[in-house]
Amino acid sequence: MDTHLTLEFGHRDPLPPGHSDEVRTPDVLVERFLEEYTVPGDRVLDPFAGFGTTLTAAERMGRVPFGVEFEPGRVAAIRDRLGDEGEVRRGSALHLDGSWFPPCDCCFTSPPFMTHSIDLNPFENYAGETTYGEYLDDVETAFRGVRSVLAPGGTVLVDVVNVREGDHVTPLAFDVADRVSDVFRFDGEVVIEWEGDGYDGTPGNYGYGFDHSYCLVFEKEREA
Ligand SMILES: C[S@@+](CC[C@H](N)C(=O)[O-])C[C@H]1O[C@@H](n2cnc3c(N)ncnc32)[C@H](O)[C@@H]1O
Repeated sequence: MDTHLTLEFGHRDPLPPGHSDEVRTPDVLVERFLEEYTVPGDRVLDPFAGFGTTLTAAERMGRVPFGVEFEPGRVAAIRDRLGDEGEVRRGSALHLDGSWFPPCDCCFTSPPFMTHSIDLNPFENYAGETTYGEYLDDVETAFRGVRSVLAPGGTVLVDVVNVREGDHVTPLAFDVADRVSDVFRFDGEVVIEWEGDGYDGTPGNYGYGFDHSYCLVFEKEREA
């Protein structure tokens, strides 16, 4: 795959009725990477499933979707959209372990984002308190859980950005790359240049102050 892609920002569907938090990954990004890294019949995991962009794309493409999501309303929205194959669990990715799902071939996910300037805990959907350092510890914990579900040789794809707030940038993408590299072999990043208007009311056409995002690529090593 090229290490630089240009994609058109957008979503296939409106948010489900009663929801206004636009946290979704553009479908085109998920589709592009699942096409590259999976084949029909593969099991695809998203431990931060949100409204189910990864899971529904996987299902559309003949893969089998497995996911975890913290917010009950989002879990219900995903269940409304998915067929009978696969599974979505309401719970915390911080407790994910290998007993939850059968071995998966690929994980495509976007963790909840954090910056230096906030002290709310993204892993409790910004309810409890935390620090940026503790957040990064939790990122590593979540990906250790992903490791327990992933088959040897499986691919982990992480959609993430750096975050600009005024004249300060939180290097979130680089910090996440660093911590997930402690769990999986890092195979580099793909830079996504976004065309189009982006999220309403947020700066940069991917939001978060920039017109590009990163898809980080990792591999779970095969056992010797
Ligand atoms: C960036 S969004 C993912 C959006 C998703 N890719 C989509 O297109 O809908 C991150 C998601 O992680 C969820 N989340 C936050 N803490 C979590 C946790 N501890 N375990 C599982 N999911 C969590 C949030 O509720 C949010 O839906």
